[in-house]
Amino acid sequence: MSRGKFIAFEGGEGTGKSTQARLLAAALTARGIACEITREPGGTPGAEAIRTLLLDPALPRWAPAAEALLFAAARSDHVAHRIEPALAAGRWVICDRFVDSSLAYQGDAAGLGEAAIRTLHKVGSQGLYPDVTLLLEADSGTTEGRLSARDGDAADKIGGRGAAFHDGVARAFDRLARAEPHRFHRIDAARSPEDVHALILAALGDLIP
Ligand code: TMP
Repeated sequence: MSRGKFIAFEGGEGTGKSTQARLLAAALTARGIACEITREPGGTPGAEAIRTLLLDPALPRWAPAAEALLFAAARSDHVAHRIEPALAAGRWVICDRFVDSSLAYQGDAAGLGEAAIRTLHKVGSQGLYPDVTLLLEADSGTTEGRLSARDGDAADKIGGRGAAFHDGVARAFDRLARAEPHRFHRIDAARSPEDVHALILAALGDLIP
């Protein structure tokens, strides 16, 4: 049995990752590919509990190092109990965010540095990286409109940080994508959901039978 493919969606807030992950899972299923859709932080009962700790706006803000450790702990549980078993059983895994989010948000925008995040990832998750990372990018006018339609004023603890923080996240994703052009596919996410889905299927053309 051949190992499943691991596909991650990445990008800033409001770029449509969750919608596109669902559309991709449906398209793969329709082609007879067994797949699982999951998200980070989360994806297992333990990691979903950590998600609540990380994102609950009622809790005080975590120090950057504690926040990075919590994301790495959630990811470690997710990889061990869900992602690796699925891939080993030949199923594809479609994940809404993975370690590149930690590199962009905690490593870069929050200032912990890339080396620290990669070390945590090696310890916690054997340094697992996706086969393909789909980076969804849209201008801030588009994403702000989508977020206010989705969340109103109820942004979570990290989503609610200021524009300078989120500009830093976008620059970090840009840098990560340039550094690994074979793994990253950059997708224009300002277009309609149907158009974005078509761009994603085209980007995965070589992988999908
Ligand atoms: P979501 O809104 O895409 O579900 O993600 C929750 C928030 O967590 C979002 O603001 C991005 C942030 N995040 C990080 O800061 N680091 C990470 O490693 C991950 C997976 C998410």
